Order: sequence, then C-alpha cells, then structure tokens
Amino acid sequence: MSSCNFSRNLAGFALSLGLASVGFASAANAATPPASSKAVKEEGGKYFDANGDPTYKISPDGKVDWYTFSGFRRFNGTCDVCHGPDGAGSSFGPDLTQALKSLDYSQFVATVSGGKRDVNTAQTLVMPAFGTNKNVMCYLDDIYVYLRARSDGAMGRGRPKSHEPKSKEATDYENSCMGP
Ligand code: HEC
Repeated sequence: MSSCNFSRNLAGFALSLGLASVGFASAANAATPPASSKAVKEEGGKYFDANGDPTYKISPDGKVDWYTFSGFRRFNGTCDVCHGPDGAGSSFGPDLTQALKSLDYSQFVATVSGGKRDVNTAQTLVMPAFGTNKNVMCYLDDIYVYLRARSDGAMGRGRPKSHEPKSKEATDYENSCMGP
C-alpha cells in the first residue's frame, strides 16, 4: 500500500471487511451539514478539506483535478444507471447532487459499501452494496469528490473540458487496490 492517507484507508478498510455482508446502512441519515469543500491540502494530486476528507479542486478555467475527472468516468458507467447521468437522479435512484448536501464522507462510504433500503416507504427501490466490487471501491474517493463538486454546483453536467494529469500516487494506489 503506497498511499496511506485516512480516506484511502477508510475505503480500503471497508473493502477488506467486505462491508456488503454487514447489511444495509440505516435509512436515517444524521443531518450533519457537509464540511466546507475548500481544498486546504494536496498530496500526490489529491486534495483534502480542513477535516481531512477528500475534496475537489477546480481552476477558474474549468480544469478539474485528476480524481474529479476519474470520478466522473467511474460514476457514469456504474451509478448512472439508477442515479441518472451526472447524478441528477432518475426513477430508479435519488438525485445525488441533492443527497450529498446532507451526507458526509463517512456516510457516503458506508452507504455505497453496505447499500441502503428505505423501509419506511412503499417503494421497493434498493441501493445495492458495492463493498466487494473493486471497480467501485478502488475509486470511491474519486466518485465522492466528483459528486461533491456536482453537489456544490462547482461543475456542470457532462465531461470536464480538461483535467490535471494522473499522478504516480494515483497509479500506484490503483494498482495495489485492483491487484494483479
Ligand atoms: C440498482 C440501482 C442503483 C445503483 C446501480 C446505484 N444506486 Fe445508489 N441508490 C439507489 C437507490 C434506490 C437509493 C435510495 C435508497 C433509499 O434511500 O431507500 C440509492 C441511494 C444512494 C445514496 C444515498 C442517498 C441518500 O440520500 O442517503 C448514495 C450516496 C448512493 N446511492 C450512491 C451510489 C453510487 C456512488 C453508486 C455507484 C457506485 C450507486 N449509488 C449505484 C439505487 C442505485
């Protein structure tokens, strides 16, 4: 494991525990407001807010950090089938640009790892657990920062025009997480 920051550890921890088997996360989300998304620290092309949670960095010209770009690609390919292109919602899943306004990073990780089922409504729509899916878990922070940017209105819909290059740290982490 070459990259040892907290967030990677949290995702890796969830993956190693196989959180999918733990069952659904509670349907009731604590109403903790999200911390400020401002990037105060950078490590190998990855940005963090004052709480140490992963966040995005977008230049005035619209250029996004690597993780936001990667998250855009990963989201649109796995999650968009239910949550709609760019997370805007569909009849199969809620609008995540709204959901992320009241979900913090650890709640996001828990929900995507363990899934979610709202037992209080007549609807039978279920958020599947991705805890054993490396194509999601190895890119969880990427997806999170992308959705965070979308939720904050920091980027619009569609593919970002330009992005920072992929760092060696990102490549190393990807290789170690995905395995041979
Ligand atoms: C098969 C459809 C489906 C897929 C695929 C899917 N989701 Fe969901 N997701 C849902 C549904 C339905 C809910 C609402 C569950 C509920 O609250 O009862 C949900 C809820 C969520 C929530 C919680 C929203 C909140 O307000 O608490 C997050 C976060 C989320 N999904 C992220 C993702 C991510 C990231 C992916 C891709 C890795 C993904 N989902 C893929 C159907 C899906």
